[in-house]
Amino acid sequence: MRAQSISTARLSESELDHIRGLIEQRSAIFLDSSRERFFSTRVREYLEEKGLPGGAELLNRIRASSVEYEAFLETLLTQETSFFRYPAVFEALESRILPEVQERKFWQSPRTLRIWSAGCSTGEEPYSIAITLCDALKFAEAWEIEILATDISRRALRHAERGAYAKRSLETLPTARLDNYFTPAKHGYQVRPRIRRMISFVQMNLVESVYVGKIDCIFCMNVLMYFSEQRRLSILRRFYDALEPGGYFLLGHSETLSHSPVQFEPVLIGGYRLYRKPGAKPAETRRAAALVEGAQ
Ligand SMILES: C[S@@+](CC[C@H](N)C(=O)[O-])C[C@H]1O[C@@H](n2cnc3c(N)ncnc32)[C@H](O)[C@@H]1O
Repeated sequence: MRAQSISTARLSESELDHIRGLIEQRSAIFLDSSRERFFSTRVREYLEEKGLPGGAELLNRIRASSVEYEAFLETLLTQETSFFRYPAVFEALESRILPEVQERKFWQSPRTLRIWSAGCSTGEEPYSIAITLCDALKFAEAWEIEILATDISRRALRHAERGAYAKRSLETLPTARLDNYFTPAKHGYQVRPRIRRMISFVQMNLVESVYVGKIDCIFCMNVLMYFSEQRRLSILRRFYDALEPGGYFLLGHSETLSHSPVQFEPVLIGGYRLYRKPGAKPAETRRAAALVEGAQ
């Protein structure tokens, strides 16, 4: 929790506008009017913390150095997350998405499974995915599994890579999962190395078009709200292109794609809406094609 203090720093509306513009231009994070109060409070706190006299000095500093810019940006990022944040999503992963991938890729060699946690924050989301895969996949060793976990925040990624969490953040996990996938550590628990090895943590700004290869399932929960409509659309198009036909796109509970021109098919499971990229051939056709190819 941040300490409340009365700021004596000079900060004009125009300086706030310039800072907002710089953040949008460099990181594409859109601080709209609904986040006005949050934004000006964070800027004031940062000025206090760094002992800066006002907004002009902050602007000079973050324009001159990318290290200073990143340190300041970290204070504007919301990193709220938790293990198995929306249980229905992980149930859908287990009961719908994984069985479909298993069927679709049964004949493939190597049998790859790639999941992207875009905006993974401090790692609870990709670790929840990894645990679900370990519990749900039959013959997990027959698969080449990669969970790509990306975030703009280096600080969050450092935490994620350590995989160390306080006891209270794991309170809701059943004892069997805690015993199987974590070891007791100072002040809490640490994710076991075999789970950490399933995940590649990479610093990435979602608005930059970085090639990620083909993905079976994308988690992008509670992230798209930080972008303007236009940026959101172009990120959605990239997600769509990166997905395998039949791949799934997953949003947070209160998010929806209802006004998006991207052609996902909504699929409702357990009250949770998943988005599926159309186009995978029915299993029977694929099996027949594989048999014919095998006979040639
Ligand atoms: C509220 S957290 C969501 C974490 C997790 N997906 C969940 O739902 O529990 C939003 C995350 O998005 C990241 N983020 C914000 N803007 C980003 C950008 N332009 N590129 C990549 N990540 C970004 C933040 O650093 C933060 O970790």
